[in-house]
Amino acid sequence: MSPPIVAIDGPAAAGKGTLARRLAAALGLPYLDTGLLYRATGRRVLDAGGVPSDPAAAAAAAMALRPADLERADLRVPPVDAAAAAVASIPAVRAALLDFQRSFGAERGAVLDGRDIGTVIFPGAPAKLFVTASLAERARRRWLELKAKGVAAALDAVEADMAARDAADAARAAAPLRPADDAVTIDTTDKTADQAFDAALAVVRERLARAGYA
Ligand code: DC
Repeated sequence: MSPPIVAIDGPAAAGKGTLARRLAAALGLPYLDTGLLYRATGRRVLDAGGVPSDPAAAAAAAMALRPADLERADLRVPPVDAAAAAVASIPAVRAALLDFQRSFGAERGAVLDGRDIGTVIFPGAPAKLFVTASLAERARRRWLELKAKGVAAALDAVEADMAARDAADAARAAAPLRPADDAVTIDTTDKTADQAFDAALAVVRERLARAGYA
């Protein structure tokens, strides 16, 4: 039996990252935030003076990615948000990052969060969650995060930007954001982080047990 994979997908600021990290700790599994792979790829293209939407430059950056690139402190800034979204729509980039994600989970199992974990990277994962929240609530959370970092932004502008990124993630031809047929949806709009975690852990434990994992 292959080691357990927990796939967590959903739109930006739905609470996936916090949830996935806590699930990984509770289950004793390694955790990978796959958004960092796209962010680090976009960062590399920008650092090299390239254009993130250029397929050749983006694919070269994805192939050159090293684990240390994921540790950089400058991956969650607006220019990298845009660069990551641009490289993520390029099929050659997604192909270059596929092996990294699959081998991450191969040895001990893993919790991975992203947009296509349950649909493309690990379609056979025994436990899949689709974590979502209303656009207004996700925009509010992102705005609070920015405020905490000392970045002044208008809530309307944050919401408009998020709506545009949602539309791009869902409309792209390469691995569009959508729930896997066998994913359980968790809507965190009206849940505290603890409530979302309790609901997610119950679903994941039940799915893993059903698939024969102790
Ligand atoms: O989750 P995030 O905001 O860190 O993701 C950064 C970008 O990468 C975002 O535009 C969505 C994209 N992404 C993706 O296409 N597939 C993934 N598995 C993870 C992220």
